[in-house]
Amino acid sequence: MPRIGILVGSTRPTRKGDQVARWVHERGAHRDDAEFEVVDLLDHPLPHLDEPLPALAGQYRHDHTRAWAETIGRFDGFVMVTPEYNASIPGVLKNAIDYLYAEWTDKAVGVVSYGVDGGAHAARQLRALCELLRMRAVAPEVSLSLHTDFEDHVTLEPRPHQVGALDTLLDHVVARRTGVRTATPARRGTDEAAVLRRVDAIVDAVRAGDLEGLGRMYSTDVVSFDIDPPLQHVGADAKLKNWARVFTSFREVTYEVRDLKATVGEDVAFAHGFGRLGGTLPGGAVTGGTWVRVTFCFRKIDGEWLVTHDQVSVPLDVLGGTGFVTLEP
Ligand SMILES: Cc1cc2nc3c(=O)[nH]c(=O)nc-3n(C[C@H](O)[C@H](O)[C@H](O)COP(=O)(O)O)c2cc1C
Repeated sequence: MPRIGILVGSTRPTRKGDQVARWVHERGAHRDDAEFEVVDLLDHPLPHLDEPLPALAGQYRHDHTRAWAETIGRFDGFVMVTPEYNASIPGVLKNAIDYLYAEWTDKAVGVVSYGVDGGAHAARQLRALCELLRMRAVAPEVSLSLHTDFEDHVTLEPRPHQVGALDTLLDHVVARRTGVRTATPARRGTDEAAVLRRVDAIVDAVRAGDLEGLGRMYSTDVVSFDIDPPLQHVGADAKLKNWARVFTSFREVTYEVRDLKATVGEDVAFAHGFGRLGGTLPGGAVTGGTWVRVTFCFRKIDGEWLVTHDQVSVPLDVLGGTGFVTLEP
């Protein structure tokens, strides 16, 4: 049964956040397709972010961070309950979110906001933040107005249509709950960083013309769907021949990969982004190269993330038979 955490985003005395979270919990209790639990930041007092490394590294020094990671890691999805403070979300909620990375990634999230006019600014910013953390934000939202959904601006009395809106939001959160959960959250953070570093190492080796270094990046049985024919290049030797050809075609190579996103499991991972290879030709002409789509697929072999498959392509005019080589990301 999926577990959905209801995060209470405010902590001040006389807050309304607890009422809103209780209402979400009550609606959740009517369902038999998920379990709901309120996660109150008052029960998880976190200092201002005091971890030496960004959460992406997945190496948490402090016990309070590890306990928070453990709490958030238990859930498959979230409903975040946020008020609007000065056209944004409360600092305490932002701080709690910033503490972690992998524990949020790939998980569904729905936003319930409230404020003078429904807390639209806060909701928009929270969604953007969640999307940055690669959470799966669902489209339906619930916006509660202090004027019309709280009696005397104090006691939550949601208008009838808000109940339907909340049920729809919960439907979406439960339906979108699935994420990659084959590795523990902390492990995933570390592995994701390792996979991204591996792509960085490939980029560095290409720029340096370091064929030997590139040889350490691929499994012996790598299958490469490289940009050049034939359809596939099988084995590390074939892949390295492609790179060797690049190094003889250019006097100096430029190579960049951008917009890279990695997804990691226990011992497999993939990353995709856009790449561009250019450089100085033997005659001295300089070319910036063509933006292509790149996908790297990894297996963890003896503790090392090695590329076992890659794919480099440009979109094709299917009827005309020509590739699009002037597109920009
Ligand atoms: C510091 C602060 C700033 C606020 N700024 C806004 C605002 O920009 N827009 C808005 O609609 N309401 C604003 N409000 C009103 C809150 O949305 C409202 O008081 C709400 O109940 C606060 O949530 P809480 O009771 O859970 O703390 C603000 C309230 C506080 C305390």
